[in-house]
Amino acid sequence: MTELIWEGKYKDGKRQGPVRIALPFQTIETVNESAQDRQRMLELFAAGREREWRNRLIWGDKKYVLPSLLPEFAGKVGLIYIDPPFDTGADFSYRATVPDEPDNGQDDATSFIKEPSILEQKAYRDTWGRGLDSYLQWSYETALLLRELLSETGSLYVHLDWRVVHYVKTVLDEVLGADRFQNEIVWQRSLPHGNIYYKFGSSHDTILRYSLTDNFTWNPQFVAHREEYLRDFYKFTEPDGRRYRLISCINPNPNRPNLTYEWRGVKRVWKFSRERMQRMHDEGLLVYSKSNIPSYKGYLDEMRGVPMQDIWTDIPPLMGGSREWIEYPTQKPEALLERIIKASSNEGDLVLDCFVGSGTAAAVSEKLNRRWIACDLSRFAIHTTRKRLLGIIGITPFVVQNLGKYERQAWQAAEFAANGKNRLEEQRQREIAYRNFVLDLYHSVNMSGNAWLHGTKGGRVVHVGAVDAPVTLTDVKAIAREAWKAVASSRDSPTKAGMDILGWEFAFELNELARQVAAESRIDVAFKKIPREVLDKKAVEQGDVKFFELGALSVQVKHESRDVILALTDFAIPTDDIPAEARKAIKHWSQLVDYWAVDWDFKNDTFHNQWQTYRTRKDPKIETQAKYTYAEPGRHTIVVKVIDILGNDTTKTVEVDVK
Ligand SMILES: C[S@@+](CC[C@H](N)C(=O)[O-])C[C@H]1O[C@@H](n2cnc3c(N)ncnc32)[C@H](O)[C@@H]1O
Repeated sequence: MTELIWEGKYKDGKRQGPVRIALPFQTIETVNESAQDRQRMLELFAAGREREWRNRLIWGDKKYVLPSLLPEFAGKVGLIYIDPPFDTGADFSYRATVPDEPDNGQDDATSFIKEPSILEQKAYRDTWGRGLDSYLQWSYETALLLRELLSETGSLYVHLDWRVVHYVKTVLDEVLGADRFQNEIVWQRSLPHGNIYYKFGSSHDTILRYSLTDNFTWNPQFVAHREEYLRDFYKFTEPDGRRYRLISCINPNPNRPNLTYEWRGVKRVWKFSRERMQRMHDEGLLVYSKSNIPSYKGYLDEMRGVPMQDIWTDIPPLMGGSREWIEYPTQKPEALLERIIKASSNEGDLVLDCFVGSGTAAAVSEKLNRRWIACDLSRFAIHTTRKRLLGIIGITPFVVQNLGKYERQAWQAAEFAANGKNRLEEQRQREIAYRNFVLDLYHSVNMSGNAWLHGTKGGRVVHVGAVDAPVTLTDVKAIAREAWKAVASSRDSPTKAGMDILGWEFAFELNELARQVAAESRIDVAFKKIPREVLDKKAVEQGDVKFFELGALSVQVKHESRDVILALTDFAIPTDDIPAEARKAIKHWSQLVDYWAVDWDFKNDTFHNQWQTYRTRKDPKIETQAKYTYAEPGRHTIVVKVIDILGNDTTKTVEVDVK
């Protein structure tokens, strides 16, 4: 067999496959789950029984997500559509408009002519360290895992363009078998380009389709006939207005003895049996020529249209003004996914897209009553998809998941080689290497000899939280104690009573509690989130790792008997975190809030999103109050989750005692 070789495909003569560890998924949020369903799910879980199906939106790298899906879904996915990065060598930005301040006193005319402030942030990167070699190895590993997930009746669609489609076709032929290739679909994705001088304009993407067997699900798709075709062929009309064309009754295959007979004095090979011809004749469906050759009437209203071919020019691209456009780079039209999903799956089938971006595949699957699993590594993609799904009327409950600390542990083990005497020693080496890596990304200087202090930056001490545990109040106290000792001691110690605490996760309410502790010990504290980009080699290489400070959220709860009104009263994120051009447009704290949601009865398990408000392009206003009536009196824990315009989330817990 012809084989495509790239650097990194083989190591010591052995083909390099994907990561194969299956990590447990963590449900970080449920959406649209009713109180009864929530209770039933808890009971099923407690009884060790299988819980009901929930569609899944997964925030994570496909490298860890796909192998983690295998134990549950190997051979069970009915349709896989992927629209991965195309190796464009570019980065894609997520552009959001900074919302207007509430009651800004401007009349409509002024706000209309006002230039919107755009907040531009990197959504994802399509640049590859070793160029095409890394891209192909990445595609090969993806294809291997997708093949295992695909069911016997399933189809895989891979959406690419001229840059890599020919290479990836070869990779897919190798992984799935060249004989499993079904189609190469050309989708005209853009209007003709005008500014092309020395070549033909490039305006199509290519979608490759494969299946594992010949027994794949297939629902033929049709498109309407063109007007000229109708005019030329459907020339006849019945008295009641039905349009028809005449189609010859002569069989194109001359070798059909059973269908060879004389009909009304003419002997030919016919398309239909004698009995069927008689029926058609009696029903007035046959029209005879001068030489007595029959044709039958083909009614336009009985035709399904033209069977869909592999060149799709009827699905226009999304543009700024399109109704569907939600400002996600490389967002695909719903009509494209609709055709693919209808052709290759049935209601109830499971659809997977592990590069879901703005959520097109999930949204269309939802609308067509398919089950779905959608994954993406960008926080903007997850947030955009969640909002998009919430906008679907009658959306079925779904969960938002990640691999949490397990993904980070796996990353730590894979990235930081160790060679110690025992596992404990190796783990220690890895942790040190990991901390130094993070300190470096935080542009801080390594500091040794302390248990809790790992570095210094601008005279402040820096603590790097572990990959697998949240930073707790006890940690903060210990860091503060050690910080004071360090300030008071020798030469290269910190010079300011300040500490930057970097963490992946923070214990509930840590921000407020720890600030009190810090104030009591006269030390300034800043909590900064270690962003997911730390796990993404491309983001690290490009210096795109930004440590955002935790937001501070204030809420007020008023209640009268069982009726509760919860209001957001303030929200702050350090202005340094907001790009300069957007900063000046922010006059009121509520402009920082893109979305917020409430769990009215948090039970220390998962955040159940029971109410939410968010900005959309069509409706950029957001509410700042939510109301709820409890069915039962008692003490309830309310959790409020805000997602700000930078895509980061902040939570706040409040207790209410309703009578
Ligand atoms: C071309 S876009 C998909 C657009 C999508 N079809 C839509 O209609 O919005 C590719 C997506 O792949 C995501 N991505 C890139 N590398 C990934 C990885 N290793 N794991 C998961 N998602 C990844 C990017 O964040 C981006 O959202």
